[in-house]
Amino acid sequence: MFALTGIGHLVTNDATRDGAPLGIVHDAALVADASGIVTWVGPAREVADHCDAAPVDVGGRAVIPGFVDAHTHLVFAGDRAPEFAARMAGTPYSAGGIRTTMAATRAASDDVLAHNTQRLAAEALRSGTTTIEVKSGYGLSVHDESRSLRIARQVTTETTFLGAHVVPPDASADNYVDTVCGEMLTACAANAKWVDVFCDRGAFDVDQARRILQAGRDAGLGMRMHANQLQHGGGVALGVELGVASCDHCTHLTDNDVEALANAHAGTVATLLPTAELCTRSPFPDARRLIDAGVTVALASDCNPGSSYTSSMPLVVALGVITMHMTCDEALWAATAGGARALRRVDVGGLAVGQRADLIVLDAPSHVHLAYRPGVQQVAAVVREGQLVSGSLAEWR
Ligand code: NIG
Ligand code: FE
Repeated sequence: MFALTGIGHLVTNDATRDGAPLGIVHDAALVADASGIVTWVGPAREVADHCDAAPVDVGGRAVIPGFVDAHTHLVFAGDRAPEFAARMAGTPYSAGGIRTTMAATRAASDDVLAHNTQRLAAEALRSGTTTIEVKSGYGLSVHDESRSLRIARQVTTETTFLGAHVVPPDASADNYVDTVCGEMLTACAANAKWVDVFCDRGAFDVDQARRILQAGRDAGLGMRMHANQLQHGGGVALGVELGVASCDHCTHLTDNDVEALANAHAGTVATLLPTAELCTRSPFPDARRLIDAGVTVALASDCNPGSSYTSSMPLVVALGVITMHMTCDEALWAATAGGARALRRVDVGGLAVGQRADLIVLDAPSHVHLAYRPGVQQVAAVVREGQLVSGSLAEWR
């Protein structure tokens, strides 16, 4: 049993509470059972009727659902600090940098690769990410992609086969697509839940992306994709047509793309990754245009060594608000419930009865402070499935 009380501001994302998406409860308490599932949420004064053990009093702090980061590339070796420094001095970002990381990743031992991945997953957890998606995509050979997925599987069940990140220098495009759809997919499918493709300038075109996504789907994987990051193109239209769970980036969209996403029969989510735009000095995606058109928007970190070397979802939320004109409520929802939608999960992303007790105690009075105090460490404790996994739950006040 796990119970918190004295919660000044509890975000449940349970719209059935008051009709608003965040389902906020003030002066609240929350109880979870021994398996880490929320069993009761309500006024703090009633908590004794709903739990046997003494609840921990958080002294009026805010509690929010754990972040669901639905887009990361944690399995890699090396870093690209020189490329970043050159970019800040004016060299534009290109997909080609992926090959630099590929070389370092191939050269790394399993132990080094696993250690790097675990270190980044732990870093994400400390900033409140309780569910994380992790892609392969820096091995780009049958051997290195399949070991990348084995390693990703050690830190999450949300693993994604991204053999189609770029064409490696030792292959031709046509042969490589054949390999991705054949031998590589076969070697990777057991440790992958999803298939992804980078459909953009310098990576894969729409026809290649279609083949790759369909091959993954035929192997039993769910589909998601990198689409329209670097330029306008047919990625989003393809994703909606195929019913992918999420089109990620969505930086360059036509009106038709926005309309297609808004009417997507499969409920395709647009996952926006503003730290990638921040760190490549690119224009931010137009979140307002998407939300106002009725598109379901998620926010994720895109943590990777090239375009976005951060795992900080609090930073992502702050950028969503400050640079992309999302409201504070929309940005928090997108980073929690939106991420869950992008992964087609209903058990995470909120704190309604029946969902997992994955939560963050903020050293702040409300979620608004995530954007109001950008860059300030306000994550006091992180709980996953009713267990403290980071920070402290010692009595406050
Ligand atoms: O999501 N867009 C493709 N992949 C990554 C960048 C990878 C890299 O530069 O290493 C992204 O931004
Ligand atoms: Fe990415």
